[in-house]
Amino acid sequence: MGFLRDKHLLGLAETPKEDIELILQHASSFREVLDRPIKKVPTLQGKTVVNLFFEDSTRTRISFELAQKRLSADTVNFSAGRSSLKKGESFKDTARNIEAMKIDCIVMRHPVPGAHVHLINYVNSVVVNAGDGTHEHPTQGLLDMMSLLEVKGNLEGLKVALVGDIKHSRVARSNIHGLLTMGAEVMLCGPPNLMPVNIENLGVSMSYDIDEVLAWSDAVNVLRIQRERQGVSYIPSVREYRDLFGITHERVERLKEPITIMHPGPINRGVEIDSDVADSENAIILNQVLNGVAVRMAVLYLLLGDQPKAS
Ligand code: CP
Repeated sequence: MGFLRDKHLLGLAETPKEDIELILQHASSFREVLDRPIKKVPTLQGKTVVNLFFEDSTRTRISFELAQKRLSADTVNFSAGRSSLKKGESFKDTARNIEAMKIDCIVMRHPVPGAHVHLINYVNSVVVNAGDGTHEHPTQGLLDMMSLLEVKGNLEGLKVALVGDIKHSRVARSNIHGLLTMGAEVMLCGPPNLMPVNIENLGVSMSYDIDEVLAWSDAVNVLRIQRERQGVSYIPSVREYRDLFGITHERVERLKEPITIMHPGPINRGVEIDSDVADSENAIILNQVLNGVAVRMAVLYLLLGDQPKAS
């Protein structure tokens, strides 16, 4: 079962180039299905997927559920807040009880980095990471690469800036790993105290000058200021953050060449990005959301699909 090197998709750090290419090729085919009047194929008929979300989500959760339904899989949604975890049941028992109901795959979002490594020790099902704390969000990295490919045609040599709170961003980590694997150049920009120590060892460059970074870039992926993950205030004020690192109307207007504007959502309009920049013709933010369904269809198919039987 499965067409990728690994049984699970836990992160892009460990996903080889051939597998990323295979996922993006299949995502492009599945993207066409989403334009059909009947947006459904029988590919995963008979498979059962549980969406196990221990943290809030709008895009990822709906996108995974839609991807499962478009592939004709049976889907079940689980919210930690309404489960027996509230009565003291352990994570291990919860996972093992869910698996006892004969499921094939668990898509999990969890606030703890590395929670999925524990999960794969407790269950035999295929596990897909839908975001683990500040660690990785591999399907977001994949959908960002698919969206860049659509507008730029190639990732090799593409100059992509990631701007904002790099330290707390799983989106940044998955983008860095995926883009570098695919031959893109990555530059990071954000407040020094929101930049992970030694991050340049991964092969990225860094700058604290947002205007210099935007002038260098073919595309900028703007990260959200994650107040709920920081716990403490890392930025003196929202206004100062916007002045120093915001993707503002004035900054974008000053550029000699237009650049592609991306954001994984949810957006803090007027903080990390101006509202009219987020809605401008160079912004592909809603394409990213649509491509998310196609990428997740591709990932689920390549992990759960049956190999053709030898005749
Ligand atoms: N991009 C993203 O992960 O959004 P959600 O938190 O809404 O799923």
